[in-house]
Amino acid sequence: SKAPIRVAVTGAAGQIGYALLFRIASGQMFGPDQPVALNLIEIEPGMNALKGVVMELEDCAFPLLTDVVQTSDLNVGFKDVNWALLVGSVPRKKGMERAELLGINGKIFVGQGKAINDNAAKDVRVLVVGNPCNTNCLIAMQNAPDVPNDRFFAMTRLDENRAKSQLAQKAGVPVSAVSNLCVWGNHSPTMFADFTNAKINGKPATEVITDKAWLEETFLPVVGKRGAAIIEARGASSAASAANAVVDTVVSLTTPTAPGDFHSVCVCSKGEYGAPEGIITSLPIKSDGTKWEVVKGLHLNDFAKEKIAVSINELTSEKETAMAALA
Ligand code: NAI
Repeated sequence: SKAPIRVAVTGAAGQIGYALLFRIASGQMFGPDQPVALNLIEIEPGMNALKGVVMELEDCAFPLLTDVVQTSDLNVGFKDVNWALLVGSVPRKKGMERAELLGINGKIFVGQGKAINDNAAKDVRVLVVGNPCNTNCLIAMQNAPDVPNDRFFAMTRLDENRAKSQLAQKAGVPVSAVSNLCVWGNHSPTMFADFTNAKINGKPATEVITDKAWLEETFLPVVGKRGAAIIEARGASSAASAANAVVDTVVSLTTPTAPGDFHSVCVCSKGEYGAPEGIITSLPIKSDGTKWEVVKGLHLNDFAKEKIAVSINELTSEKETAMAALA
């Protein structure tokens, strides 16, 4: 039988954790023939709630789940992990400055980066979900010098999925008809959900949805502010859809991408499409099941370029603010 894939999840007792762990353990992330082990990481105040979540995992009697570690010790938590899903972070509280938030979370991701560097399996891959996820990912990457940069990812898949769903509804087609949807830039309201390169049933989305004003003035803000709209309606931030996007991201990186298609993942820029080198920014990614690459040759019109530049500038300033707060 196959050796288990060991997956660390931080913030495991949180909302997203509660929606995510059961999907990993049931085989939806790595397939129905692949055993998995979970290393669940929480801070001290979360350990009791985590105990309850683990009781529920036991009560699911998942055949694929080989063992579960519960810890607040990062060296134990990241020991031998093949994937590190960094979900936990400190949310922005009322009156908190952005610089303060970047500093608090920056410290967390310094520690997690070091612990991953020193303890994880040789093939470890890291996906950062906890916000501000791009900058948190950058900090973890910088603190894990032995782990190649191309193993670090941050999540914009929820934004991609939201965008696809909105386009499908507008066009009156099933969501599976929408492809080639790249979200560019930062996972923040400035990200650009690129309808200019998107396809609907293989045709340019802009030929199917000819209402340019809707695309530019309704679609983009609806996608950008979807998180806030969910908080407003549900009284809590998106969790099931975020967990679903985590599963989708890992599946997209570990299985071959449909020919001609791509997905949105934040990766360390090598200067693709004019992004500054070394920042974690969302780009169109395809995978052969083992290796991923940035899809080249997409045309960006002036409207797209301008939108992407705004988001990239935000990333650059987030980076500078975080670095200053950590110095
Ligand atoms: P939550 O507040 O329900 O859970 C967070 C958990 O993380 C808590 O149990 C807390 O104890 C734990 N935690 C805090 N600091 C930690 C640390 N240093 N180490 C380990 N655990 C720690 O939050 P929720 O809803 O699960 O969201 C988690 C994060 O995901 C938030 O930062 C949120 O903004 C972000 N998010 C990102 C999305 C994306 O698309 N990239 C989408 C939705 C949420």
